[in-house]
Amino acid sequence: MIRVGIVGLGYWGPNLVRCFSEIEGCKVTAVCDQSYDQLLRIKDRFPTVYPIENFDLLLDRDLVDAVVIATPTATHYQLAASALEHDLHVFVEKPLSQTSSECRKLIQLAGERNRTLFVGHVFLHSAPVIKMREMIHSGELGKISYISSRRLNLGPIRKDVSALFDLAPHDISMLLYFMGGMPKQVSCNGLAVLNPRIHDVCSLNMMFPGNRMGMVHVSWLDPRKERVLTVVGDRKMAVYDDLDQEKIKVYDKGVNSPPPSVDFAEFQISYRYGGSYSPWIQEKEPLKSECSEFIRCIAEGDIPVTDGVNGQQVTEVLEAAQESLIHGGKVVNLDFENRGAFAS
Ligand SMILES: NC(=O)c1ccc[n+]([C@@H]2O[C@H](COP(=O)([O-])OP(=O)(O)OC[C@H]3O[C@@H](n4cnc5c(N)ncnc54)[C@H](O)[C@@H]3O)[C@@H](O)[C@H]2O)c1
Repeated sequence: MIRVGIVGLGYWGPNLVRCFSEIEGCKVTAVCDQSYDQLLRIKDRFPTVYPIENFDLLLDRDLVDAVVIATPTATHYQLAASALEHDLHVFVEKPLSQTSSECRKLIQLAGERNRTLFVGHVFLHSAPVIKMREMIHSGELGKISYISSRRLNLGPIRKDVSALFDLAPHDISMLLYFMGGMPKQVSCNGLAVLNPRIHDVCSLNMMFPGNRMGMVHVSWLDPRKERVLTVVGDRKMAVYDDLDQEKIKVYDKGVNSPPPSVDFAEFQISYRYGGSYSPWIQEKEPLKSECSEFIRCIAEGDIPVTDGVNGQQVTEVLEAAQESLIHGGKVVNLDFENRGAFAS
């Protein structure tokens, strides 16, 4: 039985306590938050867990085999590094860290200590996203030209990180997963409306090898909640709407264009309007699947899909986007040659 401790019991942490309490192969033995009030609230709901205010004491007391870190982004690196130094397995909420150099240090530490380092890119553990990747990689949609993703809502507004660092890790992780690797170039524009230092809305463009494009629009200042990702291929197109009961719709739509040899005078385009269908997807709470996968990887010594390298790649895109953002949307090149791609 793997003993789990959950650190950070604000907005998100209690969801992790619930999920880890409901899955097999582990037991939530301790919870930690520097706020006494948050500890009291969790203790009411989960009376058997041991509450502790100080993270260092949690590490020193042999209460846990693994820690789950759901504290603000700026604290991720320090807490994760201390836990790995105590030979604990570590799950870190997204983004893994604020900088890719810190991500690399965590990957190295996890390797030296032979411990699982897992990042909370929850969508890569959700059934519709896994299904969408299967459809892309089987060739059902044909050659992909672009993928766009919108993550919009009114709130919740964060004071510590921008909408780019708070919301876009979800979309970036999905785009890298679908595209099978890193973009070559990134550019990003945004607007800081409420606080001059923190962007509330961002529009991120990524160019991938093979003349493919990724677009991400995130905002916590939008009137309607939207979670929509569109994949445009030359055979079919697919839309993943996380708020719809039928999460994925596949459209047999497209444009039949003539071969490049045909001269402009004879250039004829025809549109293809076929039917649509929704593939059957086994319902499972993504967060619970994610927590189960962390425990399975520890128990079986497997490398998670959302491992430290995956966390580092998402942070590298965020860093490049941030650089672009502060330079008015300039194109930032990523050193693609030296980057790994996802195994297919
Ligand atoms: N996967 C998702 O969909 C999702 C959703 C929301 C938040 N998150 C992530 O979860 C993390 C936390 O977000 P949140 O919205 O819950 O933040 P929050 O500010 O609501 O809560 C953070 C908690 O951490 C505690 N804390 C801070 N530093 C600490 C320390 N050194 N030791 C112990 N406790 C400490 C605070 O007291 C607070 O209770 C972030 O990384 C965020 O990106 C993920």
